[in-house]
Amino acid sequence: MCGIVGYIGSKTDIKNALETLKKLEYRGYDSAGVAFVKRGKIQCFKRVGQINNLIETIGKKSAKICICHTRWATHGKATEENAHPIMSYNNNFSVVHNGIIENYKYLKAKIGAEKFSTSTDTEVICNLLEYLKGDTISRVIECESLLEGSYASLIIDKCNKYIYAIKNKSPMYIACGKKGTTIASDISCLNAEYFYNLPDHTVAKINKKEITFYSNGNIIDLPLCKNIHNFESNDLGQYKTYMQKEIAETNKTISNIVELYSSSNNYINENIFKGIKNVILTGCGTAYHACCLGANWIQKNLKIPASAYIASELRYSEPILDDSSLMVLVSQSGETADTLAAGELAKDKGCRIITITNVGYSTLANLADVCLPLCAGAEIAVASTKAYAAMLAVLYLLSHATSGFIKSLQNLKEICQKFNSDNISKDIVKKVINSKRVFFIGRLDDGVTASEGALKLKEIAYIDACGYFAGELKHGTIALIENDVVVIAIITNPNLKQKTLNAVEEVVSRGAEVIIITNDKSITGYTTIFIDTAIDEELNSLLSVYPLQKLACEVSLSLGFNPDKPRNLAKSVTVE
Ligand code: AGP
Repeated sequence: MCGIVGYIGSKTDIKNALETLKKLEYRGYDSAGVAFVKRGKIQCFKRVGQINNLIETIGKKSAKICICHTRWATHGKATEENAHPIMSYNNNFSVVHNGIIENYKYLKAKIGAEKFSTSTDTEVICNLLEYLKGDTISRVIECESLLEGSYASLIIDKCNKYIYAIKNKSPMYIACGKKGTTIASDISCLNAEYFYNLPDHTVAKINKKEITFYSNGNIIDLPLCKNIHNFESNDLGQYKTYMQKEIAETNKTISNIVELYSSSNNYINENIFKGIKNVILTGCGTAYHACCLGANWIQKNLKIPASAYIASELRYSEPILDDSSLMVLVSQSGETADTLAAGELAKDKGCRIITITNVGYSTLANLADVCLPLCAGAEIAVASTKAYAAMLAVLYLLSHATSGFIKSLQNLKEICQKFNSDNISKDIVKKVINSKRVFFIGRLDDGVTASEGALKLKEIAYIDACGYFAGELKHGTIALIENDVVVIAIITNPNLKQKTLNAVEEVVSRGAEVIIITNDKSITGYTTIFIDTAIDEELNSLLSVYPLQKLACEVSLSLGFNPDKPRNLAKSVTVE
């Protein structure tokens, strides 16, 4: 969701900075822009749609300093006017911004609403800079102190000497190279061994040779961090889409996890749960589904009360949190705003915090007492697939922290070769495409997998889908079962097999088409996708979600969509 790249160095093609910005395309955006100084004036170019439109417009233009942005519209429509960079009312400053300025209405009124020409909250930053007095750095410091909300912002003025960065609750990284310095909102696009990770409420004044950091108006030192962001090649290789590639990388991800967590007990050990009386797991979307399974397993295996919360609800629902609570924050990106807010609440309440994330330098990783890596490598497609499997794998290990940990690693290793590599049959894809809506059903862990299967189908194939615990069907939803409805039943729990099959029979008799995902070869007479069985029943959830991810991807492709970049969605949701 929104991306920022700034470059300062020798005169270079602006196209190079835009190529770096392209590495952030996966985050989702609907417009792009760039600003730089030419003959004492700030020039600003913006285009709705793909970065390539902007690259075409920019051609061979060059500059020593530029700031670029991809915008995912929040305040104001996706138009050129609202795209970033945004110019101040006297054209002395230009700003790119990720996040939301929560007090923008108040500041706008203070500056004078007639001076504003866009519908964005961002405009308040550049107009505040114009409105304040003093040299640019004093204005930037004062401006930062007046803003409320989340922001990672780059600022340039007409002097063309510095880029200024400000930051709160939204990431910003600075990497110095031989030729110049690159500033970005996402570490994955910085090709550098060392970088600075800007803390909240810090201002950076950056020129080609040096960077000065300010906190509360005073100059401070910041440590250089080593870039261990060892993502494998982001090339598609033999695959048409990242989603297909990433699903296929699931087994590699699980092996990485087994390797890392076997090699050191710094990550998971019995001390994690010492003195803990309750566990709250939280995340959004797919990560929330992982939390649901994690809560089941922690409660079952560790006998500690555990519950999963949707992160956007958590801070409004007054959960029981104190210094005997453990909060587990689950997030692929490590930047999801709602999960971060939940983590901040937990911190205030004195809870122990674990973050399970794919991005080791993320805001959520920094917030935690312990960070458990997902080892999934870059996940480019918006739909989370291999990272979901990784979340389940790490949560499974966590649920064995105090006993049976070695066995749990072996169990995990054993499933690596068990992911069903068969293609989803054309017949099944057709059934789903021709359906009016799709219901996914299952019991206990399979019920959670049902919700995850439905989320995938909705987000990348735009098919009306819903996941239900099978026992709930009779309490309302069955009224929607008729011809042209597809019901996908997940059955991996032998104890509840017959219960789910009863629900299947009920929907068949009301005209639904049924597809069953199961490891039980005795289930016959239905359209079925058979999966392998894990030694530990809990791990069947990793094997059963795999064909559901592939199914959603195949349906999306067959309908002519790009599953990597679904409409209206961003990979990393950094605003509430
Ligand atoms: C997953 O397919 C979705 N794109 C979405 O639900 C995602 O899982 C959610 O936004 C949370 O993201 P995070 O894991 O980066 O925190």
